[in-house]
Amino acid sequence: MSVERETHQPNVTITGLAWQRNVELEHEQSDRIREEAASDDFWKPVAQRFVPPEKGDSGPDNTVEQLKEFIEPKDTVLDVGAGGGRLAIPLAEYCVQVTAVEPSQAMRERLIATARVWDVENVSVLSDRWEDIEVAPHDLVVCAHVVYTATHIEHFIAKLTSHARKTVALISFETPATSNYVPLWKLVHGEDRITLPTLPNIEELLSEMAIWYRKTPLESWISRPFVSRDQAISECESRLFITPGSRKSEMLADALDDSLVEVDGGYRLGWAEPHRPWIISWNA
Ligand SMILES: C[S@@+](CC[C@H](N)C(=O)[O-])C[C@H]1O[C@@H](n2cnc3c(N)ncnc32)[C@H](O)[C@@H]1O
Repeated sequence: MSVERETHQPNVTITGLAWQRNVELEHEQSDRIREEAASDDFWKPVAQRFVPPEKGDSGPDNTVEQLKEFIEPKDTVLDVGAGGGRLAIPLAEYCVQVTAVEPSQAMRERLIATARVWDVENVSVLSDRWEDIEVAPHDLVVCAHVVYTATHIEHFIAKLTSHARKTVALISFETPATSNYVPLWKLVHGEDRITLPTLPNIEELLSEMAIWYRKTPLESWISRPFVSRDQAISECESRLFITPGSRKSEMLADALDDSLVEVDGGYRLGWAEPHRPWIISWNA
């Protein structure tokens, strides 16, 4: 018998409508600029960025440390949009079971391979999108860096709440996750990138939905460097929807020649800023 709780259908909010339009405009821009058919798995070229650090390493930030505070050993955790298991795998050590919801096959493959390396056996993986999935409630629902592209955001959020027995912990950056790539758009595509909703929009939305949340700052962290110039070109091509070998690919390589700086472990865009994440949590 299903123990899923009924999902309350929330009203559409003013912020939700603006959010929807923002996401649509960003997607329209991506589709217009894209030089070849969209890949069937957007996350494939960058999936390696979303795995946890080596077992025993503390990693670049304190997200897992903070999330642990919401968990008791007998709890279950649902990680919505788990990526390569960056949070799901280390959290598995502190609870009885983690369910990772992850629609990208490339991400799921990373997650499963990494769980094996970590010797973690209490993580199960579901491949549907959050909007479509049927899953039982868990004690803690984690959703990190996923809502930015969500449409019908009020339903997405309401479903997170209805699937948490205790707490929802939503993690968002202060500024758009792809901010560091934005200056390349003007240099290569000749236009400003439309950026997705982020923390201020989430806060506005939760207030309109009468969800009373707490804010916990997390340590800021800077993305892992590109290991080589070639990797920088290939990741930036995919982020900017550029076909390898095209005229724009040459423009991108020139732009990167001027903007990559050598750092410990590889190369970074000279203007790259650290990401500032927050946990936004509320009681179910
Ligand atoms: C930026 S990654 C973040 C991964 C992970 N939460 C982390 O913080 O490392 C976003 C992930 O959300 C997943 N995602 C995007 N839309 C989703 C949806 N509607 N339902 C479930 N997962 C989704 C993507 O496949 C991707 O793996």
